[in-house]
Amino acid sequence: MIIGVPKEIKNNENRVGLTPEGALELTKRGHHVYVQDGAGIGSGIPNADYENVGAHILPTIEDVYAKAEMIVKVKEPIESEYDLIKDDQLLFTYFHFASHRPLTEAMIRRNAVCLAYETVENPDRSLPLLIPMSEVAGRMATQQGAKYLEKPQKGRGILLGGVPGVKPAKVLVLGGGIVGTQASKMAAGLGADVTILDINLNRLRELEDIMPANVTTLFSSELTIRKLIKTQDLIIGAVLIPGAKAPNLITREMLKEMRPGTVIVDVAVDQGGCIETCKPTTHADPVFIIDDVVHYCVANMPGAVPYTSTIALNNATLPYTIQLADKGWRQACKDNKALALGLNVINGKIVYKAVAEAFDMDHTPLNDMLS
Ligand SMILES: NC(=O)c1ccc[n+]([C@@H]2O[C@H](COP(=O)([O-])OP(=O)(O)OC[C@H]3O[C@@H](n4cnc5c(N)ncnc54)[C@H](O)[C@@H]3O)[C@@H](O)[C@H]2O)c1
Repeated sequence: MIIGVPKEIKNNENRVGLTPEGALELTKRGHHVYVQDGAGIGSGIPNADYENVGAHILPTIEDVYAKAEMIVKVKEPIESEYDLIKDDQLLFTYFHFASHRPLTEAMIRRNAVCLAYETVENPDRSLPLLIPMSEVAGRMATQQGAKYLEKPQKGRGILLGGVPGVKPAKVLVLGGGIVGTQASKMAAGLGADVTILDINLNRLRELEDIMPANVTTLFSSELTIRKLIKTQDLIIGAVLIPGAKAPNLITREMLKEMRPGTVIVDVAVDQGGCIETCKPTTHADPVFIIDDVVHYCVANMPGAVPYTSTIALNNATLPYTIQLADKGWRQACKDNKALALGLNVINGKIVYKAVAEAFDMDHTPLNDMLS
């Protein structure tokens, strides 16, 4: 198969859809890989690293789309890419269709086959191509929280781990899933006094077993949160209710109960946030202050660490990319149910129910398109 890797052109997106490690696995199997000039630069990967494993460099994005049967990238195509997409071309990337009607309509119009990273789903309902980005965001949440706790950043001026003779900072993590676990591990490793809240008792049992002694698990309730926030230094929002807006666990009026300089990192901001006062910010201007509480609410945290995020994403996507290249999308999806769930739009038809429902558009059962 001919695989194309365009350079990401979305604002501040430095990741790349395929690493040289992935390119080698594909060229070894007889596939042809075409990478746009400079596509890897934002992640520290020069053209030569691709050429050394048998991939070819093409000068422009137009060349890549014109050549490829399958496009492998990171973010959804943006408007200037729509008309580059060819009839029947397979696109393997994040789409997040349900929040973007013009994108959905454009992909229908272009007669493309759209396999979305975010809806590839294992039998246990886990989302294997979202997990790596949650891992990155969780670890980053603690790092950013520690930075904004510094006085010059308007934080309380407390060192996360303290020093001998001085007590450490208190970190409250709302939600003990992927983000919450990674955030807690980092905070505990730095010596902070960490509390994780969750409503899933089984999850709390698992965390209790694997976390070090400076981590406490508590069942999440409004009263528990109200009591705790009065004494915390850093609060990390990591709650998810699949398919729904995150619940507001901390309301505007509760901010007054917090000490000045408390830092909130609301990682769940991409699902509406679990702190009422959170609104999405960017890496260029990541924080704002309300009632002396510092809010960090960057919606695409992994974008700030493209070296790590590109490799983490590729580790997860590559097995699927190989299956798609070896078998073609139809056979690969017949053989792998998890991958098939990634199909959202096929040749002008919406095959993912939630996307059709989001826009009140027609839904075609996936099986009709696979047979
Ligand atoms: N900002 C970013 O850059 C970025 C990056 C990756 C992920 N995220 C977001 O982070 C959020 C968390 O993702 P995840 O992968 O950790 O999800 P997850 O499903 O692994 O974990 C969510 C946890 O929240 C718990 N929960 C639900 N309701 C709760 C409540 N009322 N109180 C306490 N806990 C509750 C669940 O039981 C679950 O354990 C999601 O909204 C995700 O989209 C954001």
